[in-house]
Amino acid sequence: MTLRYGRFDDERREYVISRPDTPLPWINYLGMEEYFGIISNTAGGYSFFRDARLRRLTRYRYNNAPLDLGGRYIYLRDDATGQSWSPSWQPTQTPLDSYECRHGLSYTSIAASHGGIRSETLYCVPLGQTLEIWRLRLANLTAERRPLSIFSSVEFCLWDAQDDATNFQRNFSTGEVEVEGSVIYHKTEYRERRNHFAYFACSEALAGFDTAREAFLGPYRGFDRPIAVERGSAGNSMAHGWAPHGSHHVRLELGPREEREIVFLLGYGENPVAEKFDPPGSQQINKRTVRPVIDHWLQSGNVEAGIRGLRERWDELLSNVNVSTPDEHTNRMVNVWNAYQCMVTFNLSRSASSYESGIGRGMGFRDSAQDLLGFVQMIPERARQRILDIAATQLPTGGAYHQYQPLTKHGNDDIGSGFNDDPLWLVLGVAAYLRETGDHSVLDEPVQYDNLEGSEAPLLDHLRRCVAYTLDRLGPHGLPLIGRADWNDCLNLNCFSDTPGEPFQTTENKSGGVAESIFIAGQFVMAARELAAVVSLRGEVEEGSRLLAGAAAMAGTIAEHGWDGAWFRRAYDFFGSPVGSKECDEGQIFVESQGICVMAGVGIEDGRARQALDSVRDRLLTEHGVMLQQPAYARYRIELGEISSYPPGYKENAGIFCHTNPWIMIAEAMTGDGDGAFDVYRRTNPSAREAISDVHRCEPYVYAQMIAGRDAPSHGEAKNSWLTGAAAWNYVAITQWILGIRPEHGGLRVDPVIPANWPGFRATRRFRGATYRIAVIKQGGTTGRVTHLIVGGARVEGTLMPLAPAGATVDVEAVVGE
Ligand code: BGC
Ligand code: NOJ
Repeated sequence: MTLRYGRFDDERREYVISRPDTPLPWINYLGMEEYFGIISNTAGGYSFFRDARLRRLTRYRYNNAPLDLGGRYIYLRDDATGQSWSPSWQPTQTPLDSYECRHGLSYTSIAASHGGIRSETLYCVPLGQTLEIWRLRLANLTAERRPLSIFSSVEFCLWDAQDDATNFQRNFSTGEVEVEGSVIYHKTEYRERRNHFAYFACSEALAGFDTAREAFLGPYRGFDRPIAVERGSAGNSMAHGWAPHGSHHVRLELGPREEREIVFLLGYGENPVAEKFDPPGSQQINKRTVRPVIDHWLQSGNVEAGIRGLRERWDELLSNVNVSTPDEHTNRMVNVWNAYQCMVTFNLSRSASSYESGIGRGMGFRDSAQDLLGFVQMIPERARQRILDIAATQLPTGGAYHQYQPLTKHGNDDIGSGFNDDPLWLVLGVAAYLRETGDHSVLDEPVQYDNLEGSEAPLLDHLRRCVAYTLDRLGPHGLPLIGRADWNDCLNLNCFSDTPGEPFQTTENKSGGVAESIFIAGQFVMAARELAAVVSLRGEVEEGSRLLAGAAAMAGTIAEHGWDGAWFRRAYDFFGSPVGSKECDEGQIFVESQGICVMAGVGIEDGRARQALDSVRDRLLTEHGVMLQQPAYARYRIELGEISSYPPGYKENAGIFCHTNPWIMIAEAMTGDGDGAFDVYRRTNPSAREAISDVHRCEPYVYAQMIAGRDAPSHGEAKNSWLTGAAAWNYVAITQWILGIRPEHGGLRVDPVIPANWPGFRATRRFRGATYRIAVIKQGGTTGRVTHLIVGGARVEGTLMPLAPAGATVDVEAVVGE
């Protein structure tokens, strides 16, 4: 029997969770600018300013038991009986009379009732602010007077999350706080090099407070039964060292049917270094700048305006692309949740989720460049800045730091460089930006290499070096050298690790090895063609043809050394043996090279593309999506690296990557097979999988990185939800290739490749300032392509819409012929 844990409320753009014990914490994100938080359906999670590692405001313990403990907690206590409960179920797990969590766009609300008291807490970060609001509404559903105590609780993190979790000999002696009225200030390390602090405010006069965790919880107690709540009174503790904590205690009495609202604020404050203290010379935080902010947001009317502001922002962001197709899962994902996930991946890259601890990885060069693909139509100005930030971490060689820290925006030395696909993603990301915006001025922006002063060169120069980087590194077959890995982080062909714990991606004991990647070869063909188009538009015709010739030559090399007979090979290993070939006993066919080569146009004309996609269907397609490779590696293979370290069916060892599935959808669409493309789309669409939530287990409103493949005992189970390139690529595949509404340099193209049983669909697309209202109409046949457009009443041959002036609204009919 299958089980659901909630439902989509499409009208309100919310996912409504109807029981707290979801298979895994089902999370949402607060904040979309500088202040961010993760929040689960039981109020678990944490907050940070810009950087989940370096500026973490509240503590969270990953891999906890029970899962998801630590968060934005409120405890309610019936002061007549002494009974207490958590209105978010965690951490007390007291049975609730009712429970409902609504995850919306950048807010979450959790409602519950217990013993005649209803509560609803709405959590959000208002636009332009570095604080989060918790708005608690209480209602007495009974006819009696009800004396209540309300306790809030957050555990402060001592800023650097890595240090916070490890350096106890120091940290147990550094904690400091201040309390002023109803505001608790956390100021560890403020006395020395920090000029920032956290505050936790409450709209009510306090009956008491606690700032020392041990005083609040009581010795040897957990968050499930704090002593202060049990007793019904706070300890008024001041933290000196140990674990600084924030807890307000508010007492109130609710009359029969009475409702009350209490506002809590958790925020991040910063002072100029010269004005840190007030009075000057003291050790007290200067609160002059932050007090008015706190006063403002503690007021109910302003909170309401803040929530409205967020709603309006999302209305506007989502109005850029809106579709109405015969499939509700498509509509829901495209119009709301997939776009939303693209915003989150753009903001956080792979840093903070239930699976990314916020410590290990900052912004990925490859990851963030791809995230642009799904985000660029939403806030092009931010995409532009991101491009410049990423490019500034590029090395003079054309190579790239694999990751960079969002706070400093500097390349991360721990992981370094040498992932040879990295630079090419920048070209693809910039091309997407140019096609969407037409803003070619970005190419002339001076950008540093490796953030080095004086190294500035126009962005275009960076892109040229990206492409040259591949050509400078070709192997024995004339294919690109793979380096540490390409898109598949776990195909480490120059690694040969036999030492436990050695990182596969940075240990290159066979460096200088000649392993080659057919994936990068395909990616190069795409990137070189993209760059050719871009430079040709600037009049660099000769350079354009040189790039095209380079792409054609690489396509030829793929044909010669990358074709296995019925699909594209994946790589050549250190010894020159093929990977992803019928010659192999395992790992005979990989999805990545089928996807990327066909997307690059390789084999479309001579039928090899179709043949490769048929092989994908035969060998890699399961009911839960397309597996990464087959047969899975049954044992560890030193010459292949991390891929074979995973048990069969998990992760890169034959898991289903929701990131690579869209490559197959695009490839299917490019070969004109709408049913094939949509079939793959539906198998991993989270909303379409909602009905099997007990198998899928992750959130049904966002993509996960991976679904366990056929070889795994838990086939169909998703893991690593939220922060994955699956968001951007699925968005591109469905909107631009299946629905076929595709930004190009010269305008917007409408070239859908949709299922045979769809009569057509409608869409609204804003593009370069104009709004296109598009109706795709099938005339006659079922599987044909658009032959002509009727734009504002006039017939236009082909599929490219003429550019309308900014501000215009244009009605377009796209007519699908036989
Ligand atoms: C994972 C990859 C991931 C990489 C990041 C590997 O262990 O399997 O999916 O991209 O680590 O460093
Ligand atoms: C996750 C990483 O973030 C991404 O960069 C990589 O391409 C995939 N794993 C596949 O290994």
